[in-house]
Amino acid sequence: MEVKILGTAAGGGLPQWNCNCPNCQAVRASSAGVCWLNQSSIAVRANNQPWFLVNASPDVRQQLELLRDGKPVSIRSSPIAGILLTDAEIDHTTGLILLRESSEPLRVYGTDTVRIALTEGFPLLSTLAGYCGVKWSLLEPGIPINLGLDAANQLEVEAFPLAAKPPKYMRHKAVADEVWVVGFTFRASGKVMTYAPGLAQLDDTVLERFESSDCILIDGTCWQDDELVNLGIANRKAREMGHLPLSGAEGSIQHLAQLRHPRKILVHINNTNPILMANSQERQVVEKAGIEVGDDGLTIEL
Ligand code: MLT
Ligand code: MN
Ligand code: ZN
Repeated sequence: MEVKILGTAAGGGLPQWNCNCPNCQAVRASSAGVCWLNQSSIAVRANNQPWFLVNASPDVRQQLELLRDGKPVSIRSSPIAGILLTDAEIDHTTGLILLRESSEPLRVYGTDTVRIALTEGFPLLSTLAGYCGVKWSLLEPGIPINLGLDAANQLEVEAFPLAAKPPKYMRHKAVADEVWVVGFTFRASGKVMTYAPGLAQLDDTVLERFESSDCILIDGTCWQDDELVNLGIANRKAREMGHLPLSGAEGSIQHLAQLRHPRKILVHINNTNPILMANSQERQVVEKAGIEVGDDGLTIEL
């Protein structure tokens, strides 16, 4: 299995257009070892078969260029076989509209809550119907499906529940305890990779899933629960936004540090998070715990 990080940053990217936090300022000044980062997305493939895009960010155009290899077979061809959605957040779905030039309906995989959100709240699916169209495939948590072409090229994906936080635009329609955010476990040739960019809490079931994966790409949105509140950027804490902070007594680092088997890489990192600064103390804490900070273009072979 091959996994490529296409976007390491959370929504807004780094720098974010209207942000003057220390990281955004540092990257504009090209100092402190911080580079521009695209918004949250990865690509996955097995046996050199076509890539699957996981989440379609507003940066999808340049992100898909990272997947180009070999000679094109025809004047128009897609570098991806389909798009899987972990949730219906704007930073994970807006890219769909940018793929409207597709000469075939886009093959999109997601849960029913995501489909409904993209129909009723942020109507990308009905909008795309006037362009290339969408062929929707339902992903039900706990029920793996094979994305591979045939039995010899299996690429299995299983969705699992992560958070009950609806996108802001669906808050008025949301039903309590509905699963709005899932993670994905991919399996191919005996290797296992789990992607969880929206981790609201870490219970034993999720930790066991992480421990039995060879690599995990996990939510690193905020360092502190009150990071955005302290900067005067938002009035909601990270937890209230469906993202477990990294630091603190019940933060994710202390749990992730206990995992023995998987390679652990943080993704969906908000531009305010000090771990993005290569020379920060917070970055050292993460690395000492055996956890890596993701980077755009990083390829993981399993
Ligand atoms: C999130 O990750 O919680 C969302 O992307 C936030 C947002 O874009 O409003
Ligand atoms: Mn996000
Ligand atoms: Zn910023």
